[in-house]
Amino acid sequence: MSHTLIAPSILAADFANLQRDIEMINASEADWFHIDIMDGVFVPNISFGMPVLKAISKHATKTVDVHLMIVDPDRYIQTFADLGANILTVHIEACTHLHRTLQAIKAAGMKAGVALNPHTSIALLEDTIKDIDLVCLMSVNPGFGGQKFIDNTYDKVRALKKLINEKGASTQIEIDGGVTNKNAKQLADAGADVLVAGSYVFGAENPTQTVADLKKLLS
Ligand code: DX5
Ligand code: ZN
Repeated sequence: MSHTLIAPSILAADFANLQRDIEMINASEADWFHIDIMDGVFVPNISFGMPVLKAISKHATKTVDVHLMIVDPDRYIQTFADLGANILTVHIEACTHLHRTLQAIKAAGMKAGVALNPHTSIALLEDTIKDIDLVCLMSVNPGFGGQKFIDNTYDKVRALKKLINEKGASTQIEIDGGVTNKNAKQLADAGADVLVAGSYVFGAENPTQTVADLKKLLS
């Protein structure tokens, strides 16, 4: 419970001051960088692509956690490895051959993550959970920052934690979307290991202090 990680989402950073914001996170108590890649097809928004990720990786001194909201992610696994991703998360809804995709991510030297949309049941992970390093439970419909947290997520975290324990897996649980100081503790208590926070951190007057406050809340 005391080791819940915080992963600020760069989607909410100031892209005109990207290096400044990355260095701010480097110097903060945050644990990971969460990087959202959207293709305008899998989700109704386009975020940024490879050149921007390359620039982020150049300055980031913490784990680079890349969340792909794209169709056909298999095409870009090696590219994201070369761009400095440490964890590569694909959406289960975008993978026809999930097991093969997970093996390919690991073969490229990254940790393998699987993201689930709010409507997707964790039961779909029963046969692959031992091969998954990270499950990202979407607590909003993916595509945009600043949306409202979906309360059903608490039940999902508990059910996923149960599945992980039953199968003897060592998978980490990440929550993505609408995380604030109002739900962080309850999510950690339910079994979450990593909390992504975008607008709550970067929209704050003092993001560094906001991260520190979140960490304190979770300690
Ligand atoms: C949503 C993205 C999230 C987003 C979270 O599609 O996957 O990572 O940046 O932003 P907030 O914390 O503002 O909901
Ligand atoms: Zn994300």
